[in-house]
Amino acid sequence: MATTQIAIDGPAGAGKSTIAKLVAELFKYTYIDTGAMYRAITLKAMRLNVELNDEDAFDFLNQTSFDYENGVLFMDSVDVSRLIRSREVSNNVSLVSSHQRVREILVERQRAIAHHKNVVMDGRDIGYNVLPNADFKFFLTANVATRAKRRFLENAQNGIHIPLEDLKNEIIARDDFDSNRTITPLKPAEDAIVIDTSDMKIEDVVKTIESIVRGENNHENESSARR
Ligand code: CDP
Repeated sequence: MATTQIAIDGPAGAGKSTIAKLVAELFKYTYIDTGAMYRAITLKAMRLNVELNDEDAFDFLNQTSFDYENGVLFMDSVDVSRLIRSREVSNNVSLVSSHQRVREILVERQRAIAHHKNVVMDGRDIGYNVLPNADFKFFLTANVATRAKRRFLENAQNGIHIPLEDLKNEIIARDDFDSNRTITPLKPAEDAIVIDTSDMKIEDVVKTIESIVRGENNHENESSARR
């Protein structure tokens, strides 16, 4: 049976997870949040007190299990979905995810999870690295003020209080790190459809993606990454 893969990439706070989850529900596909995996190993590394700069300190990854249930990540059979959203994890995850060994192991796991399944997978390198043959590739962006505000509201709902200006600076720093790392940095696939979500509601982004996937492509806010 032919399967369909939808890749959604983009910078921090562009709405990827929320939108990817809704698109997955809509089509009854499996949702895979790859950022959650990088966050989870960052959490584990911090708990194990390993030197985050040291790539060789991440051998524990070979003894770490990941499972997704309804889009929720379980690491070593424990639901870590809340803990991985902490400010400490957010501020260390880019460093951890810049290590080649870490990326090799996690990308292999991500491909294995997506194998022979209809999936919506979100991250930073999905369209051009993890699933280069994905049927649909989207790159969601938004201006930094909008992204910081969205993250601020999301945090507030989860009882996390970080001043908006700090959040904005942390997002800028993380994007900068993610975009400039040597190994598979944050960037759109050449054939990705770029959607600027700054002035769009969540449901409108979902509708835009839905109509493209259903082949009714006629929308204003998108542009092709290929120029
Ligand atoms: O939700 P948010 O946009 O803040 O980030 P995330 O998707 O949870 O990803 C957290 C971090 O993991 C990113 O800032 C990247 O450093 C890293 N990441 C990555 O390197 N490659 C991916 N495919 C996904 C995430």
